[in-house]
Amino acid sequence: MTDAVTPELPPDQASSDVDETRLSREISRRRTFAIISHPDAGKTTLTEKLLLYGGAIHLAGSVKARRATRHATSDWMKLEQERGISVTSSVLQFEFMGYQLNLLDTPGHEDFSEDTYRTLVAADSAIMLLDNRRGVEERTRQLFDVCKMRRTPIFTLVNKCDRHGEDPLKLIQDVEADLGIDCYAATWPVFENDVFVGVYDRLKREVHLFERSGDRGATRADDTIVSIDDPQLIEAMGESAFDRLMTDIELLDAAGHTYEHDRVIDGSLTPVFFGSALTNFGIEPFLREFLELAPPPGPRESNLGPVAPERSDFTGFVFKIQANMDPKHRDRVAFLRIVSGHFEAGMQVVHQRTGKPMRLASPQQFMARDRVAIEDAWPGDVIGVMDRGNLRIGDTLGGDGKLEFQGIPRFAPEHFARATPADPMKRKQFDIGLRQLTEEGAAQVFFAETSAGSQPIVGAVGQLQFDVMAFRLEYEYSAPCKFEKMNHRWPRWLTGKPADVERVATGLGRMKVYDHKGHVVVLFQDQWALRRALQHETSVQFHETAP
Ligand code: G4P
Repeated sequence: MTDAVTPELPPDQASSDVDETRLSREISRRRTFAIISHPDAGKTTLTEKLLLYGGAIHLAGSVKARRATRHATSDWMKLEQERGISVTSSVLQFEFMGYQLNLLDTPGHEDFSEDTYRTLVAADSAIMLLDNRRGVEERTRQLFDVCKMRRTPIFTLVNKCDRHGEDPLKLIQDVEADLGIDCYAATWPVFENDVFVGVYDRLKREVHLFERSGDRGATRADDTIVSIDDPQLIEAMGESAFDRLMTDIELLDAAGHTYEHDRVIDGSLTPVFFGSALTNFGIEPFLREFLELAPPPGPRESNLGPVAPERSDFTGFVFKIQANMDPKHRDRVAFLRIVSGHFEAGMQVVHQRTGKPMRLASPQQFMARDRVAIEDAWPGDVIGVMDRGNLRIGDTLGGDGKLEFQGIPRFAPEHFARATPADPMKRKQFDIGLRQLTEEGAAQVFFAETSAGSQPIVGAVGQLQFDVMAFRLEYEYSAPCKFEKMNHRWPRWLTGKPADVERVATGLGRMKVYDHKGHVVVLFQDQWALRRALQHETSVQFHETAP
């Protein structure tokens, strides 16, 4: 099992005889995406429905049911249960209409932004899910900004149309004004006496009229599809619904943006869909359009230029590491996004950071927490490989000539706390736990020199990360931990002549610490101290993240 380093074997040999037609077919049918939303917009419900339509589950409701079972059986999930939050990202893979979908699930809580942001790097497109009463909310906005920075194509789904919400036109105007993205209404809600009964697909010029299933959306919603030009439509819809739709269409055609695929792909125009994840109305038309319009895996930037997915040799990068997914087995899984070539179980690739060959055995794909062993995978796929501590977030695997994929964001921690083992006898477990969890990206660790030796300091982007660390140290490493919050925050990495770095780092209102690689980082006790240093200390360079 695992990625044992076996230097005697030549690297990258398994990928040379890839069938090019098969490779391009597999690429073109893949869609790797994430859902961005504010808590409560309906992400869990939508995920469930996508799986229902993909045939991955037979009765919607089982995702939640399974989640409840896991709560009861797994220590690791206790935190999720206690806090009512989701702290892990998982990857769901399923098929629909001949497409292979990789849905990267992102944790919902805002304190987990680091992990969420990194997950977005592995996605080729995003579904922005909005509540029809609330429109764009805080968390949606934050995640949208990350997508915008990366020019990720965004498909908007306005959810909960089964209950009365904001006027659809007003919602679209708000999205445009708030996020600075143009909208194209790709579907439009059809109301009969203010009840949501269907959607009009503007691209296909078809009206979908849904039938209530009577089982609260546990099965697919049956629909009747009528062309907008069909004289029978008035009868099928009813006169008042028809009149209202015609007025809306006229308005949209006259005042709205036109569909331009290039602009969707470069992230400046978002197709907007309407539906109800609860009743399934509008979900299938959305899914079909999304699959047709969303881009397949594309090239990825590297230090050697863009790497195209069609390149025959396997390459990929690690965007997430998760330790102890199964507490019984003390394992560590590195999640790898495949960028190019054909991946085969047991193949050997170069681990670019160390330059050593690495055998990727026992690759797995994930259906929530269920794992399935796989034999092969293609660009766009996300696979989990067992890791013994060799891999880090951002590592490039495969390729030659010191290939390094770029663009995995790093974040400066905003909160710091001294970490000490609650039980001094558990020092060893504590050190191991702290190291593994920080390598995994759960938080960042720094060290301060004290008269009693080296003192670990944990830096986090959000406060909740401390609770998660404390919980995991106790349950996974049997090393309960005490965190003592510090006033010093505002970290800056310093570079310059060693004597200058030392002088600046130890000045008044500052604290000198080291990051895990031994770089000097200075923490400031307030923003005023930081500003003063930036203005006056010109002999050194200040960096917001590790240089
Ligand atoms: P999240 O993962 O984004 O946080 O949202 P989730 O799917 O858990 O949905 C949040 C709430 O919104 C749930 O209600 C869910 O049933 C409801 N919801 C989701 N989609 C729709 C929809 O299309 N229409 C309507 N009317 N409601 C929807 P809850 O009362 O919090 O939970 P539950 O008891 O219904 O499970």
